[in-house]
Amino acid sequence: MTLTKDFFWGGSIAAHQCEGAWQEDGKGPAIMDFVTKGSNKEPRTITETIDPKLDYPSHLGIDFYHQYKEDIRLFKEMGFTALRISIDWSRIFPKGDEQEPNQAGIDFYGNVIDELLANDIEPIVTLYHFELPIHLVREYGSWKNRRVIDFYLHYCETVLNAYDGKVKYWVTFNEMNHLDPQTEQSDIFTYLIAGLKYSEMKNPAVDLARIGYNMTLAGVKAVRLAREINPENKIGCVFGLNPIYSYDCQPDNVLKSFLDNDRDYYQVDAMCNGKFPKYKMKQYQALNIDLENQSSDAEDFAKGSIDFIGLNYYMSSISEPNTPVEGETSLFGGIQNPYLEQSKWGWGIDPTGIRYVMNYLYRKYELPIIITENGLGAVDQIEDGTVHDDYRIDYLQKHIKAVKQAVEEDFVECIGYLSWGPIDLVSASTGEMSKRYGFIYVDLDNEGKGSLERSKKDSFDWYQKIIKSNGEDL
Ligand code: BG6
Repeated sequence: MTLTKDFFWGGSIAAHQCEGAWQEDGKGPAIMDFVTKGSNKEPRTITETIDPKLDYPSHLGIDFYHQYKEDIRLFKEMGFTALRISIDWSRIFPKGDEQEPNQAGIDFYGNVIDELLANDIEPIVTLYHFELPIHLVREYGSWKNRRVIDFYLHYCETVLNAYDGKVKYWVTFNEMNHLDPQTEQSDIFTYLIAGLKYSEMKNPAVDLARIGYNMTLAGVKAVRLAREINPENKIGCVFGLNPIYSYDCQPDNVLKSFLDNDRDYYQVDAMCNGKFPKYKMKQYQALNIDLENQSSDAEDFAKGSIDFIGLNYYMSSISEPNTPVEGETSLFGGIQNPYLEQSKWGWGIDPTGIRYVMNYLYRKYELPIIITENGLGAVDQIEDGTVHDDYRIDYLQKHIKAVKQAVEEDFVECIGYLSWGPIDLVSASTGEMSKRYGFIYVDLDNEGKGSLERSKKDSFDWYQKIIKSNGEDL
């Protein structure tokens, strides 16, 4: 087994991290427009109103809204065969609950999609990547409220019809699988997913359970809708899955690591197995959590299973043992693995982890996998007029090799590899520009200063060579 000839090579970007133009052509305010820049030491601040003295990186992004043609030209030059973009709901429905869409928003994404197709790049379109009109949070309480499912479906129906026949690959949600009702969360995490701060939730266990359930239900309903609109549509969901290994072989620690790792999977189960998992329902019953679910939901789960799994993979960590030990914590829970090097932002670099998750997913669900995000956030320096990012090449080379091993040696069905942020863009967790992932450098600093000019890093030519050889010339 080798990678198929039509394997997708490319990258993934998200509207709120690259577009800017936050008030142009009728776009409404969305959740990330209220989040300031932070750093790996200082969390991003979430404000009620826009404070002109503060810096909100989504307002400018990297100006993709105006420069997308040039960016797509560079992606084409690298040989991309796919680009995953997201549609910002607030460009299509500025408040989220309108009946009639904003035509200028539909036109913008129509132009981007046409540009991709003209360059033989397959558009893979995410319908929700941390982009929720703020009105739906303030007026309806976000995804806690089942009415938001109907608004989401109306939005999905609008764009599925608008780009019907042009877009075949759709993604219902990006990474909404980190909301465990029994785990304490950081504000930015719950905010990214649902526009709500964890610290302000009156009853976080109930709220997170309902948000998680309603988004999962919305996802399977959107799958049914996409199939009704066009049976040729392929519709999947993107999950962020970072393995949590056992601290040691002490059996209770092994069991704990299994449960910690499994925490992120109940929505994958629900979207792939045709039913919301019983173990989760029973857990909610034991916690006296009323999901406000309806008996008709079962049919949506039964008929709305996804066609493919999108995997966002960056790092792994280890589960904190039952007897606490000294150790640095890791972003998705657990502690750092002493066998691994970390990125400057403390993300444990583990190429074997991607092969591990791919095997786990494929053996459990037998669905095609697209690696929808992977990459190294690093500080780049310009030397002799360019960025010599051998550290990024090293990271990607090892991860792509592990993906190939999963396909060639373990027989996992993987149909594409999309690196995160093929062009530098705003970091979601910290809001910094200096946390760069791209093959293409964007002249913009953390203070929002710079010419926005695009230039190629060393990794640009390297990735071009990988794509040209379909991953053979690693
Ligand atoms: C993924 C998100 O979880 O991680 C992206 O889908 C995000 O939106 C990416 O940008 C990398 O995280 P960060 O915080 O380095 O931008």
